[in-house]
Amino acid sequence: MTGKKVYIETYGCQMNFADSEVITSILNGVGCERCDSVEEADYVLINTCAIRDNAEQRIHHRLRDLRAVQQRRRLYVGVLGCMAERLKQRLMVEEDNVSFVVGPDAYRRLPEIMTRVAEGVKVAETELSESETYADIVPVRLDGNGISAYISIMRGCQNYCAYCVVPYTRGRERSRDAESIVREARGLYEAGYKEVTLLGQNVNSYRWNGVSFAQLMAMVAEVSPQLRVRFATSHPKDLSDELLATMAAYPNICKCIHLPLQSGSNRMLKLMNRRYTAEWYMDRIAAVRRFMPNCSITTDVIAGFCGEEEADHQATLEMFREVGYDYAYMFKFSMRPDTYAAKHLKDDVPDEVKGRRLEEIIKLQGEIALENNRREVGKIYEVLVEGTSHRSKEQLFGRNSQNKVIVFDRGDAKAGDYVMVEVTDCTAATLIGRLV
Ligand code: SAH
Ligand code: SF4
Ligand code: F3S
Repeated sequence: MTGKKVYIETYGCQMNFADSEVITSILNGVGCERCDSVEEADYVLINTCAIRDNAEQRIHHRLRDLRAVQQRRRLYVGVLGCMAERLKQRLMVEEDNVSFVVGPDAYRRLPEIMTRVAEGVKVAETELSESETYADIVPVRLDGNGISAYISIMRGCQNYCAYCVVPYTRGRERSRDAESIVREARGLYEAGYKEVTLLGQNVNSYRWNGVSFAQLMAMVAEVSPQLRVRFATSHPKDLSDELLATMAAYPNICKCIHLPLQSGSNRMLKLMNRRYTAEWYMDRIAAVRRFMPNCSITTDVIAGFCGEEEADHQATLEMFREVGYDYAYMFKFSMRPDTYAAKHLKDDVPDEVKGRRLEEIIKLQGEIALENNRREVGKIYEVLVEGTSHRSKEQLFGRNSQNKVIVFDRGDAKAGDYVMVEVTDCTAATLIGRLV
């Protein structure tokens, strides 16, 4: 594989981005070089997402685009990630320009698979593992700013939320060796990084040789007070006071928690198999506020799940008002094959109703975010500078501990610095400030 050029394109969540960094490391190990465009590439790897139907449609379109290049010259296209795992060899039947399909637990075999592909063989390797965590592989950071990096701390999910494809595409839940995580964080800090985000589908259920997630957070926070620590995602059913106390105890653990609600209706939560109630969720919100009055809270929500009625939707809007989220990822329900919902429930909310409900949530959330940001005006925050603002070269942007983006006149500051910024104005999405 020496000298072969590989172009990697990544879709989906942060875990896929983290995986692409592991893949790059594996391929570098056999002498491949990563390149920046399809034009230069011998191999194109598409690391895919299967979470909603439109995520998969995007990949199908992209694969069709690549045919044009393949008609001109030899180019091997491989599909990796969640959609590869879901469709397996079927994908190579539907898209005959794809020469290999590799699931999330089989990346160590990529060099061997890609060699076989060059010999004219088509390969599908989609076996899931109960133990693979790639703990020993040092990811090669891609397209980063050199300031903030992801660290994968666990893989898989076995919560089986009724709508969700992830347990089928990522397999059993398994936690990664805590020492290898701390070593990776320390390596990043020594290389100049200022922030790490620990990643898992449900970080609260992390457990390795008796180390809990809260203990792991403390271990990573101890690397340096100058290293910020974030995490995603925590499942409300398992959010412990132990974790909240640890977050409160370390100034460098960011005061920001992503707590996907999915629905504010108990009837929907039950159908979704989320295993908490609206009351439990509100109790956890109260706990977050008790431990950290200055913590921001963000969420995910699905509009139009099976059987959702107007009253359920209203309950979701009500929860949004009660919690007052700083940010939300909002989705229209998309039925995924093989999930519990696909087997046992009906996708019976008409698309226009799903769309209307989603719009109502988006509109409400816009108002709430603006209201929250207005309350920030006059406050002073420590901001980690990430780079030059997209709107003006004279301005920098960064984020505070609460993960809010702040834009300000650059002064003498530069990317990677911690600076103090007073908030002077805002929009629903951004705070505007000045150096103090
Ligand atoms: N592990 C995380 C979620 C990962 S998927 C958690 O449990 O919170 C990210 C988000 O995609 C989910 O929180 C959910 O809001 C959304 N999602 C998942 N499956 C979906 C589907 N079939 N249709 C629409 N949105 C979906
Ligand atoms: Fe999907 Fe639920 Fe697992 Fe999150 S916890 S990845 S929503 S099954
Ligand atoms: Fe998508 Fe897989 Fe992530 S389905 S959201 S890339 S875990």
